[in-house]
Amino acid sequence: MRVGMLTGGGDCPGLNAVIRAVVRRTLEKYGGSVIGFRYGWAGMISGNAIELGLDEVSGILPRGGTILGTSRTNPYKTDGGVDGIVRRFKKESLDALVAVGGEDTLGVASRLHEEESLPIIGVPKTIDNDIVGTDFTFGFDTAVSIAAEAIDRLHTTAESHNRVVVVEVMGRHTGWIAVKAGIAGGADLIIIPEISISLAEICEVIKKRHERGKNFSIVVVAEGAKYPEDAPNQVEGGLVTVEQTTDSFGHVRLGGIGNKLARAIELETGYETRVSVLGYVQRGGTPTAFDRVLGTRFGVLAADLAHQGHFGKMTSLSGDKVIPVALSHASEGVKRVDSELFEVARTFFG
Ligand code: F6P
Repeated sequence: MRVGMLTGGGDCPGLNAVIRAVVRRTLEKYGGSVIGFRYGWAGMISGNAIELGLDEVSGILPRGGTILGTSRTNPYKTDGGVDGIVRRFKKESLDALVAVGGEDTLGVASRLHEEESLPIIGVPKTIDNDIVGTDFTFGFDTAVSIAAEAIDRLHTTAESHNRVVVVEVMGRHTGWIAVKAGIAGGADLIIIPEISISLAEICEVIKKRHERGKNFSIVVVAEGAKYPEDAPNQVEGGLVTVEQTTDSFGHVRLGGIGNKLARAIELETGYETRVSVLGYVQRGGTPTAFDRVLGTRFGVLAADLAHQGHFGKMTSLSGDKVIPVALSHASEGVKRVDSELFEVARTFFG
């Protein structure tokens, strides 16, 4: 059995655990071989690849990032992209491809499987935890832990200076990181894309805290949250972006709501307000034990599915079980924060 593999989209902690698991399982249990394509779909199109043996995956389990590199290349927007991938399957005599990625990479994988009949298995990853069809993606737990630790640290400086601190976290169009890190870090207010809130409501929460003797507040805001309609310096569509251009999957680069919100809160309340944008630190570094285990389980299952010829599937976590589900789930939109979880967070606002 000859298995190809690639990692696409934004990197996240736990990718190397998947690569290691696919290689170990394929080589040792099935006597097969694995070739890794560099920089996502780009490597498959151009033939930039590396043979993955036991030596190549030795010692990578605790390492963040991906030894294969990654990119946001969309073969459907690249000249000769799809043909190049079809040819690569033949040239490398691939029996299967394991594509590890988020909704974009898995969306391409699903389309290639359906339209070109390519034998592909998907493995969902992202710090955002927004993929439909799996309870959790690996990378998310690490990002939440990093953000929660940052919120802990921001508490002590906010408290010392009697300040409001706005903490901007990633998560694209969902608030999973914000809600989980906010609950873990004891945030006084959490603002997410799924629930709209006005500037008046935000300031009321902060003022009430001050009235009961708390002279500092921690406000966690997800990068994809809508900027309140009653706040000054409105932005078109409510989304605050770094730039207006979109990538080859049509995504804008989110970022900047923390700064805008901090200014608006300071103007409205008169309380000194600072902002901390956590950014890429949430995606970097060593994965938590949870993410290492989940990535490893996904990798082992992906190798098994490849061996069994179960293509068009995606590995998924359902409760505590790792199971295959239809790969097409990954293109069914985004998985949003459930209201029950947000209600738990809301209990501690103010
Ligand atoms: O999808 C993961 C993620 O980190 C999002 O939270 C964020 O919006 C985006 O990627 C940033 O993408 P890039 O690495 O292209 O700047």
